Amino acid sequence: MIGSRLPSANLIAFASAERYNGWKFESAAEDIPYHGVLMRTSRLAGFYNLSLEEKTTRLAEAAELSPQELAIFHQGGLTVEQANHMVENAIGIFSLPLGVALNFIVNGREVLVPMAIEEPSVIAGVSFMAKLARAGGGFLASASPPEMIGQIQILDVENPELARRQLLDHKAELLAEADAVDPVLRELGGGARDLEIRRLDESPIGAFLVAHLIYDVRDAMGANAVNTACERLAPHIERITGGRVHLRILSNLADRRLAKATCTIPSNALTFRSPSGQMFSGEAVREGVIAAWAFAAADPYRAATHNKGIMNGIDAVVIATGNDWRAVEAGAHAYAARSGQYTSLSVWRKDAEGNLVGELEMPMAVGIIGGATRVHPAAQAALKLMGVRSARELAEILVAVGLAQNLAALRALATEGIQRGHMSLHARQVAIAAGAGGDLIEKIAAQMVAEGVVRLDRARELLRQWQE
Ligand code: MEV
Repeated sequence: MIGSRLPSANLIAFASAERYNGWKFESAAEDIPYHGVLMRTSRLAGFYNLSLEEKTTRLAEAAELSPQELAIFHQGGLTVEQANHMVENAIGIFSLPLGVALNFIVNGREVLVPMAIEEPSVIAGVSFMAKLARAGGGFLASASPPEMIGQIQILDVENPELARRQLLDHKAELLAEADAVDPVLRELGGGARDLEIRRLDESPIGAFLVAHLIYDVRDAMGANAVNTACERLAPHIERITGGRVHLRILSNLADRRLAKATCTIPSNALTFRSPSGQMFSGEAVREGVIAAWAFAAADPYRAATHNKGIMNGIDAVVIATGNDWRAVEAGAHAYAARSGQYTSLSVWRKDAEGNLVGELEMPMAVGIIGGATRVHPAAQAALKLMGVRSARELAEILVAVGLAQNLAALRALATEGIQRGHMSLHARQVAIAAGAGGDLIEKIAAQMVAEGVVRLDRARELLRQWQE
């Protein structure tokens, strides 16, 4: 896609994103009375120095949960028996480190954010940026209604324009049929919202029609509800058009279900001295971040890496809450290409007061009910720890984390580079890979970092020396 444009017919799909950019995004905080976990503070100084047990106790106090409720994280959260009911041919479970990002304030609420990720530096990076963002009041986030798009491909229509109009004439009847699929969802205020008919005139097999069923899925991710509704509509659509319905499946380009976060960081909060003693003024860091963003805004090669950094933060929370990270990834990257050129999902600029202002807007198809979010005990505990009360609130926290992670990467890249921060944690992994255990992990890692040589052969050598 680099340098090229999407075929014009496909741009019809993105038109709705433009419309929703003008949507009145609403914050979940505005309309849901708080009954969940009320975090006292997400600012837990010295947390990283505590033992595993002390961390659990401290977290439980901060989140007003019992240590037993958090103990599920120590067991990986899922038993082999549970896994056996989740996928075919199950043979076990696969674990990832679970950490907690600190310092987040999202829409005025303190939030502790669980993150499942194997990559060092990500949790430390977001926590530090969330701390900087506190100086400007934290993150403001909002989301559009949880509307997913179901696609129905209609082949073999003799007159596409006539068929399109016929379907629109039957819109009310088709929406009522789709609505009947899930009475519980309807009871909760969700259900079919709209039907759009698109003509794809230039496909490799010639022209065909696509119906977009717009479905409000409330607190679900929504794939099941939407796919069922699409399948339910298929025979009716065939009867109305005389055509043949082929695919019936939701779109992961969830551009009707957007979430947006912003943060404003006073430039003096960005001032820092690197461990090598180099001073970076707040203004220099701010300008460095903006120039780094401009690179991603203009160049798809850089944008892919820039957005990968954003997804480092988002995926880790999506995974910890049992959501479908492939769906969120697909939506993110498709949305990043909505203009026809793949670009940055975030924007960084300077405001009139000289603050650094960041904004991230992207599709966020996540749920807090159904699927693994319901059956995975650690996902349940993660949602409880965050105290989220709706899918919308989860989406808002996710974009805040994505923005924080983006800033962590840009700030490091624009100043001392990412390797120093990365290396100390990476060194521990290398020490473990060399066979070190217990105290030796830290000792060997620290020595490799001090030497500036973080390699398996050196770790093995040091291990041999320590063991002699
Ligand atoms: C590494 O996982 C992520 C970064 O490459 C992101 C970026 O370059 O913006 C550091």
